[in-house]
Amino acid sequence: MRINRFLAECGLGSRRKCEELVTGGRVRINGRPVVKLASEVGDKDIVTVDGKKVERREKQLYIMLNKPKGCVCTVSDEHGRKTVIDIVRPKYPDARLFPIGRLDYDTEGLLLLTTDGATADRITHPRNEVPKTYIARIEGEVTEAELNRIRGGVVLDGVKTKKCRAKLIAFENNESRIEVVITEGRNRQVRRMFEQINREVVFLKRVAVGDLRLGGLYRGEFRELNDREIEYIRNV
Ligand code: URA
Repeated sequence: MRINRFLAECGLGSRRKCEELVTGGRVRINGRPVVKLASEVGDKDIVTVDGKKVERREKQLYIMLNKPKGCVCTVSDEHGRKTVIDIVRPKYPDARLFPIGRLDYDTEGLLLLTTDGATADRITHPRNEVPKTYIARIEGEVTEAELNRIRGGVVLDGVKTKKCRAKLIAFENNESRIEVVITEGRNRQVRRMFEQINREVVFLKRVAVGDLRLGGLYRGEFRELNDREIEYIRNV
């Protein structure tokens, strides 16, 4: 295979970034500097970057699903409900995929699935404060004063939620559409934050996780992340 693809499969970044390693003169095959991007690597070749041997790791899968409501974010459900893994399994029958974080049964939208435990841990670890963007629909007109309470934090299970962003995007047909950006991932957090101000979320959809956006994926559709997106989630 081509040297840049080989390096990418060693986990050294996107193919573009790996090309830069080559053009920067940092890569050797069997001790000889690689000068051509078209250089090929065979099974027995020894490749070094800055003098350190690199090896391909198992190819990891990174998938973006537009989770529909009516399924759970677990690998198998003790109550026999449909899971997000049931949706992707026909295409990846042998992959050990699991969801990165959770959306509740009634919530739809962007859910990442992967085989890469380290990346999943980084995205979900509260310390890394990866922003998650939701669109919530609520009956009636939600006021700025109410949104300020959400922004400042409300107490859930005895612990205040972190400051967050909340913005009224539209008020139509007696319904408020609100964009909420939180950096935590507590159980049913958005719904429960609004419950604290006596408002019921009647529809909830996650539209972004960090820089990754749901874009044009239909409900129940999924796709593999591209190189740029993989590089992003591996480095959050
Ligand atoms: N907040 C919720 O209320 N539900 C989710 O699934 C995610 C965030």
